[in-house]
Amino acid sequence: MKRLKNPFYNRDIVSIKDFQRPDLDYLFQVADNIKTSLPNDSLSTKSIGLMFFEPSTRTRLSFESAMNSLGGKSISFGNPSDSSTQKGENLSDSLLTMDQYVDAIILRHASEGVSRYASEICTNPIINAGSGSEEHPTQAMLDVYTILNECGKVDDLNIAIFGDLKYGRTVYSLLYALSNYKPNIHLVSPKPLQLRPDPLIELKSKLNISVHENLQDIISDLDVIYTTRIQKERFPDLQEYERVKGSYKIDNNLLAKAKENLVLLHPMPRSDEIPSEIDNTVYAKYFNQVSSGKLIRSTLLHLIFTENSSF
Ligand code: CP
Repeated sequence: MKRLKNPFYNRDIVSIKDFQRPDLDYLFQVADNIKTSLPNDSLSTKSIGLMFFEPSTRTRLSFESAMNSLGGKSISFGNPSDSSTQKGENLSDSLLTMDQYVDAIILRHASEGVSRYASEICTNPIINAGSGSEEHPTQAMLDVYTILNECGKVDDLNIAIFGDLKYGRTVYSLLYALSNYKPNIHLVSPKPLQLRPDPLIELKSKLNISVHENLQDIISDLDVIYTTRIQKERFPDLQEYERVKGSYKIDNNLLAKAKENLVLLHPMPRSDEIPSEIDNTVYAKYFNQVSSGKLIRSTLLHLIFTENSSF
């Protein structure tokens, strides 16, 4: 079988919109192959620079752990308050400095557009590890991969995206990733947390979307529920946050009406929208999702640095 050209080689990963179905198919095929035989030490001459201007547990640790497993090195900008940012250094000087020391930069920032800007001024590939309320492309890749693993397909599934759809960046990246497939999407949120209007118009032209305020009304039809935390840090007005705080939750009463093979996902971190008692149900797959995070990011690093992958 003729192998496709590696579409990730030496490439920025700024937006999920830059990748189409053949790219995702290629990534997931290589991930499946790498899962059973990791190319240890294949990146021993490579290094990545972690620049996280916002907190992270999973994204940061999974990239670091992935690079370790592939024999590469990672250096970290650390907490911005421990760097020359504290002395007033501007973002472009910090980026151009890191660009001198590593082969790729993993960048998280509260401002939208910063990853695109970084990709325009830096020589080495930029991987967007989360940009404001805008995008989290590698999360979307691992989310779709998890759905494929848990459900065996994406087409024709009834997928609910539930929670803070206004500010949750993983929601936007996931919806654009899912627009490469043919699922039925149910957007479920309290009114003040509905998807922003412009992306909703664009996404409605690509996906079969219905909008709901109450998960109870559709729970028995769903194959996947993707729940998100209320993004308190993104609210311009904390009073607005106080009005919606605690306004939705997955509980056992709700799940009593679910299909037996419902898949419950969450990009994490969570607050109180999925209580820990749900972790022991057959539906809870969010730690499988966390595990896919390392695999997909290992695969991406492998492909970004390896033009002719044998996987
Ligand atoms: N899903 C996600 O981005 O988690 P972290 O904020 O912990 O990286």
